[in-house]
Amino acid sequence: MPVIDLLDELSPVGRNPRTGGYDRLAWTGVDAECRLWFEQCAEALGLDIEIDRNGNMWAWWGASFPGSALVVGSHLDSVPSGGAFDGPLGVASAFAAIGVLQRDGFTPRRPLAVVAFADEEGARFGVACAGSRLMTGALHPDRARSLMDNDGISLAEAMTGAGRDAAALGRDQERLDRIGEFIELHVEQGHLPSSHGTEGLSVPIGVADRIWPHGRWRADFIGQQNHAGTTPMGSRRDAMVRLASVVLAVRSAAIAQGALATVGKILVEPGAVNAVAGSATAWIDARASDEAVVRRVLEAVRRETGTELTEESWTPETAFDASLASKLAAELGNVPILPSGAGHDAGVLSLAGIPTAMILVRNPTGISHAPEERADEADADAGVSALADVIRSRTTLAA
Ligand code: GLV
Ligand code: MN
Ligand code: MN
Repeated sequence: MPVIDLLDELSPVGRNPRTGGYDRLAWTGVDAECRLWFEQCAEALGLDIEIDRNGNMWAWWGASFPGSALVVGSHLDSVPSGGAFDGPLGVASAFAAIGVLQRDGFTPRRPLAVVAFADEEGARFGVACAGSRLMTGALHPDRARSLMDNDGISLAEAMTGAGRDAAALGRDQERLDRIGEFIELHVEQGHLPSSHGTEGLSVPIGVADRIWPHGRWRADFIGQQNHAGTTPMGSRRDAMVRLASVVLAVRSAAIAQGALATVGKILVEPGAVNAVAGSATAWIDARASDEAVVRRVLEAVRRETGTELTEESWTPETAFDASLASKLAAELGNVPILPSGAGHDAGVLSLAGIPTAMILVRNPTGISHAPEERADEADADAGVSALADVIRSRTTLAA
């Protein structure tokens, strides 16, 4: 089935009618529907479905073939009100590419798997790429189990509610040993200004060669909850005001250092119009082409606001396998090679020593993590043929 038709089948799932975006948070009922879509795509192609101990989904073509596997795919979860393509484009393109190969009568000579990693965005429990980090051991299972969502539900409880065994979470050496290479196709995310090296893709596809270092930090503020109509301005301890100073400091430090830093999520208690905030929490996302720049941003925020920042996750700069990236770019017609400011499961696998590459599909709006994220049909088809070519050339001989 063409990739756009596969995505159309998924499109009602988790659609937010108010924003036009998608709410596909990990281990929710919507996530279960996305997983059902994955199973239906796999079954239609005669692939063998497997869910690993960390909740990642796999669809195997020739699991019993000799050699280490070529793995393709991405993730199905989204940020709140996210776009339709970040994640699902990679999974749907993988299924579409297998469909093309099967119609051509092609049979791989080494195992091939489509993967949908669990909880890539970390939008519900805070840690991005939780499924792949658990698999590689980069996220400790005890920490994962105790991560909380905004309603006080732990990851362990959410997984149990979705029928998974949270006690089984952890590094999956046997599976890691089976993965020979991972290739993630992904919608292009953003048109970085030329000072960051690119204006965005001017052709349908490109290849990513590295991911910027990035991390997430939490800042907690305690004030005194009180009546908005009776508490003199001079005697307030207002958690919201201290939080606001951090939001502004993050922005100015990022501009001063040439980094990207964001406060995109806050929680304020009690969250009443007529009450001074008693507590508040802000989450900071900071990224740059170089780790030292990210660290300088955080240092400036600490210094200027006197706020303690707790690191919730950190991903160092990830350089994908250089020869794989340049081989792919040449094989696909000398397509451009770009850095990625966005994080991906591909980065987690690469840091675990698995040869990894990414194919990017042009995004005409340059907007991502938002309803306006796009991939044109012709570009998405070009992504599928690129992926089919790459699968063919890498599975023609046993690995
Ligand atoms: C994932 O998309 C991220 O970069 O946060
Ligand atoms: Mn994303
Ligand atoms: Mn993604």
